[in-house]
Amino acid sequence: MRKLIAGNWKMNGSLAANEALLDALAAGMGQPACDVVVCVPAPYFSQISAVRRANTAYAAIHLGAQDVSEHEQGAFTGEVSAAMLREFGVRYCLVGHSERRQYHAESDEAVARKAQRALAAGITPIVCVGESLAEREAGHTNEVVRRQLAAVIHTNGHCISEIVVAYEPVWAIGTGKTASPEQAQAVHAVLRAQLQAASAQANRVPIVYGGSMNAGNAAALLGQADIDGGLVGGASLKAADFLSIIANSRTECA
Ligand code: PGA
Repeated sequence: MRKLIAGNWKMNGSLAANEALLDALAAGMGQPACDVVVCVPAPYFSQISAVRRANTAYAAIHLGAQDVSEHEQGAFTGEVSAAMLREFGVRYCLVGHSERRQYHAESDEAVARKAQRALAAGITPIVCVGESLAEREAGHTNEVVRRQLAAVIHTNGHCISEIVVAYEPVWAIGTGKTASPEQAQAVHAVLRAQLQAASAQANRVPIVYGGSMNAGNAAALLGQADIDGGLVGGASLKAADFLSIIANSRTECA
């Protein structure tokens, strides 16, 4: 499967910083062996879609969002709908990132509805799942990620083959503590089996890893049989690091 490397800029960036980062990425990327996405703050969609339209060198950098409303339209102050994302050429959208689950109290069911809205608008949801440190230490990792994914399967039925899953152990996000390739692979295999049981087409669902992925550890993670790419936070803000991770997507599966 072609790998997917998605940058999650979180609440970082400025018009000037974005331009410098995108210029460096476009200059260094060539024809990437993987799909490349940058999930940017909503106010920058127009900047990035304009840059992509103006210069084919940026065409390989797809535009992603970090969240989407579970509602279609109407009196939901502060929300951004899937149709609005679509108008700006957004191709991918994170849903259920642990920072949204934690700081904005997003339930498994709300995340499932967000995935449904994205799919209905022709946007690929990148569904984030992952356990906290306490849940891992209590031996509940598989149960937690299976519960989170089950809600999305339940709401989306056969459309599940159109999603991307991101396994992001909460204890590894922004902490510099990466799951070992073996730890990550073990959870990816659990998620793969769950997807396969839900849909005959599920083999084409990329399952990407996120949590302190960087230029140094990407090759070992991306070499695992069920790790189909990366969701990269901090390292996606540094062009050299993100380019190095993209280059490592050539790694063959172990
Ligand atoms: P990190 O973030 O790479 O900085 O750990 C990953 C994410 O939150 O998506």
